[in-house]
Amino acid sequence: SGKFKHKERVRPYIDLIDSLRLIGIEDDLALPTIAVIGDQSSGKSSVLEALSGVALPRGSGIVTRCPLELKLRKIRCGINWRAVISYNDDYIEFDDPSMVEDHVERAQNILAGDGVGICDDLITLEIMAPDVCDLTLIDLPGIARVPVKGQPEDIGYQIKNLIRKYIEKDETINLVVVPCNVDIATTEALKMAQEVDPEGKRTLAILTKPDLIDRGTEKNVLDIVRNQVIPLSKGYVIVKCRGQKQINDRISLADATRVERDFFKRHEFFSCLLYEEKATIQCLATKLTQDLVDHIKKSLPLLSEQIKKQLWDLRKELSQCEAGPPLDLQKRKAFFIDTLTRFNDKVNRLASGEVINEYN
Ligand code: GDP
Ligand code: NA
Ligand code: MG
Repeated sequence: SGKFKHKERVRPYIDLIDSLRLIGIEDDLALPTIAVIGDQSSGKSSVLEALSGVALPRGSGIVTRCPLELKLRKIRCGINWRAVISYNDDYIEFDDPSMVEDHVERAQNILAGDGVGICDDLITLEIMAPDVCDLTLIDLPGIARVPVKGQPEDIGYQIKNLIRKYIEKDETINLVVVPCNVDIATTEALKMAQEVDPEGKRTLAILTKPDLIDRGTEKNVLDIVRNQVIPLSKGYVIVKCRGQKQINDRISLADATRVERDFFKRHEFFSCLLYEEKATIQCLATKLTQDLVDHIKKSLPLLSEQIKKQLWDLRKELSQCEAGPPLDLQKRKAFFIDTLTRFNDKVNRLASGEVINEYN
C-alpha cells in the first residue's frame, strides 16, 4: 500500500540519523525543532503529549509557564525509559515516566515562581526510550489576551515576545494549534506564524477538540482542514486528544490513540479525512517525520562537503608526518635500526648541551 511505500522511503533516513547521532553529528547538523503555539487551553500540551507519549502538565488556565524543550531520543540498546530534566544549573535524572509532570511543575515553580507568572528560561527534558521517535519538541506558554489576577498588565505582550524568539528560527517547524470551536481567521497564533514565515514553508496547523465542535459548523471545519479557507503550504491536520474527563478516568495515551481513530472512523463528516491522511496524531507524526527526512536530505550535500574538507585537512597533516614503517619485513628491520640510531643521536646531542630545534 501507499503507507508501506512511504515507510520504506523514510526508514533509511531515520537509520542514517541514528548512526550519525552515534558519531556525534548533532554539533554539525542541527536537526529541526518543532514548536507548538496557540491560545491558552487550545490543546498544545495535549498534542505534544500524544506525539511524545510523555504525560505533561496540562489543563485549564495557564499551565505551561516556561518554554519546555522535550528532546526525544530513541535508544537502540537497553529497554529502559530514562529522563533527565535540566534548568538553571540543576540536573535531575529519573526513570519513572509518571514523575514527568511533578518534575516539570517543580521546575516551573522554581523558575517562574508559584502562581501565574511566566518566565523565559528554558526547561530541557531529555527522554531516552526505545519507543519514541527522534524529535525535539518545544511546549510554549499559551497566548493570553486578558491578564488574570496576579499577572502583570503586559502579560500578553511578554508571552508573544517569548513565543516569537522560538518561532522565528529558520530551522523550527511551527505547529499552530487551534480548537475546532473557535474562528481560525482571528487566531493570534496563526497571525504570528505567518509573520515569521510568510510563505508558510514551516507552518503546519493542527485543529483540536473535534469532539467539542458546535453542531452545524462541521462543514466549515472540513473546508478548513482541506486547505480551502486559509491555505497553508503544509496544510492542516485534525486531531482528538484526551479531554479532561478521559484524563480523570485515567485513559492511557495508548488507549486514547484507539479512541481517536474510532472517533474519526465513526464521524459523520470527518471519517473521509482518515483516508485523505489529514486526521489523527499518527498522521501528524508521519508528516513531521517526513519533514525531518526532507531536512536531512537537504543538509546531506553540505555535510558531505564538510566531511571531505576535514578529510583533506587530516591528509595534509598526515603528509607532514614521517612515513611509517615499510611493509616489507626485511626493510622493516633496517627502518627500525635507522629510527633507533637517529633517536640515539638526538639524545646524545641533547645530553652534550647542543641546542636543537628541528621543528621550527
Ligand atoms: P494548552 O494550554 O494549549 O497546553 O492546552 P492543554 O493541552 O492543557 O488542554 C487544555 C484542555 O483541553 C485540557 O483539559 C485537555 O484535556 C483538553 N483537550 C485537549 N485536547 C482535547 C480534545 O481533542 N478534546 C477534548 N474534549 N478536550 C481536549
Ligand atoms: Na492550559
Ligand atoms: Mg500547555
